[in-house]
Amino acid sequence: MLAVEGLVKRFGGFRAVNNVSFRVEQGEILGLIGPNGSGKSTIFNMLSGTLPPTSGSIMFDGREIAGLAPHRIINGGIGRTFQIPRPFHRLSIFDNVSLAGFYGQGRHSRAKAEEAAERALAMVGLPTDRHASVEGLGAAGLKKLELAKALATGPKLLLADESLGGLDEHEMDQAADMLRRIRDELGITIIWVEHIMGVLMRVVDRVMVLDHGEKIAEGLPADVAGDRRVIEVYLGTDADASLAAAAAAQARRRIGA
Ligand SMILES: Nc1ncnc2c1ncn2[C@@H]1O[C@H](COP(=O)(O)OP(=O)(O)OP(=O)(O)O)[C@@H](O)[C@H]1O
Ligand SMILES: [Mg+2]
Repeated sequence: MLAVEGLVKRFGGFRAVNNVSFRVEQGEILGLIGPNGSGKSTIFNMLSGTLPPTSGSIMFDGREIAGLAPHRIINGGIGRTFQIPRPFHRLSIFDNVSLAGFYGQGRHSRAKAEEAAERALAMVGLPTDRHASVEGLGAAGLKKLELAKALATGPKLLLADESLGGLDEHEMDQAADMLRRIRDELGITIIWVEHIMGVLMRVVDRVMVLDHGEKIAEGLPADVAGDRRVIEVYLGTDADASLAAAAAAQARRRIGA
């Protein structure tokens, strides 16, 4: 579904993303991890058109999309969430989501956008009435709103820049289950950026690790969580929890649960 070759992003003399190549298969959940500043959000910004790549190729559904404007990319089927939610505070929850649906689906019709908003809100578990206000939403609610906005654009590929920091454990598990349901029930392919390894490793099919803008590892969760270099640059004391979560997920898959 997605084939990225030699992707580079330079800011002045600094290479935030340095020659990164990877593929994502239809229906997969790929975890994208790495230390702060390693280039994860910058990759999302290039995949979604927010930033043009300095060089490299991004083939999505057989078409080159590197450097296209964000609305063209969104209309083509790549939806994204933002790491820092910035909803329109004067609009209701419903209107925030239907607005995303309206522009994200290429301004087809208001009725279609509202239908998409209703489905997306139901999927993430936010109220579907027209007047509920954004103001009452806490950290977990704002994350759900981000997801609903992205879903309302009708993506085939969802880029989820989550950072579940600020959520309690139950809310984190809920967020993880939601991503899995989005893949299982809606058939949406997902790339998921997240720092909390015990949650991420349980859900993803494959993991890719960045450090200083370069890909340093890629593979099954259990293999990546046990990789010496990955432990050194990123997992550190989280390594045991990551391995345990990856191993438990692998065992569950084996018995088909
Ligand atoms: N618009 C920009 N101009 C200059 N430098 C930038 C810009 N955007 C990002 N950077 C730099 O590029 C590097 C990669 O940033 P990026 O936001 O992609 O990291 P990240 O992996 O998403 O980190 P985090 O886990 O903290 O979200 C950082 O050093 C950052 O300061
Ligand atoms: Mg980021």
